Amino acid sequence: MEMTKTVLVIGASRGLGLALAEEYCRRGYQVIATVRKPSEALIRLQQAYPGTLEIEDNVDIVQLHEVRSLQQRLHARTLDVLFVNAGISRATEQTPLQVEEQDYWEMLLTNALSPMRVIELFHAQVTQQGVIAVMSSELGSITQSTGFWELYSSSKAALNMLMKAFAARHPHDPRALLLIAPGWVRTDMGTADAVLDVSESIPRVVDVVTQNEGKPGLRYMDRFGEILPW
Ligand SMILES: NC(=O)c1ccc[n+]([C@@H]2O[C@H](COP(=O)([O-])OP(=O)(O)OC[C@H]3O[C@@H](n4cnc5c(N)ncnc54)[C@H](OP(=O)(O)O)[C@@H]3O)[C@@H](O)[C@H]2O)c1
Repeated sequence: MEMTKTVLVIGASRGLGLALAEEYCRRGYQVIATVRKPSEALIRLQQAYPGTLEIEDNVDIVQLHEVRSLQQRLHARTLDVLFVNAGISRATEQTPLQVEEQDYWEMLLTNALSPMRVIELFHAQVTQQGVIAVMSSELGSITQSTGFWELYSSSKAALNMLMKAFAARHPHDPRALLLIAPGWVRTDMGTADAVLDVSESIPRVVDVVTQNEGKPGLRYMDRFGEILPW
């Protein structure tokens, strides 16, 4: 009999993170989903999957003590997938001279430094065949940049760099390390102008994670599993 797999989704209150939690529930995983504060949508999902979806509140990834406390609560759990999804966009149309510094710091802290701190604290709990994934963006590609959402893009490029540095520090890591670009999706962040519905993105993202189980190494990929240029 196949063992039930466990996924930890960081940042699952709404948008892509909520959809990730739902997709993994649908696929029969044991799902641990974190939020900063209670999310009605996630609680509804838990009611639909009782015993399958566990919710961990009070996990603001910027607050290192909250992430440490989560790790202490979950220290005995083995993870098949760690998926860090949480992220923000600020001052998307602004330039370096226009942006409020606070907005930029918050973006770097939330999108680049904090996801990597989560990975540092949890990676030892991910199985040898497992996957450590973080939600990056097509906009994090320096090669492909058109200058769109430049400040946000730079925070995702910083995330990509930090993940690359993590991989360099763990050269013999047997796990897949994935930076995943979900496409431009209609969420609060993606806005109503985005081209994709969540249902056109997240099942593919989860397929990519699954296809990378047992395949060591760092890859920056889109939702089709195509390699993106750094
Ligand atoms: N939508 C797109 O087109 C798109 C494209 C490329 C990449 N992405 C990336 O995909 C991820 C999810 O985006 P989305 O479109 O779903 O955005 P969203 O609808 O704005 O949702 C953002 C999620 O991140 C959580 N979050 C933000 N800051 C957090 C923090 N400090 N600690 C814990 N959780 C935090 C939010 O929780 P709260 O409810 O507590 O705020 C929410 O669950 C982000 O990393 C984003 O950069 C999105």
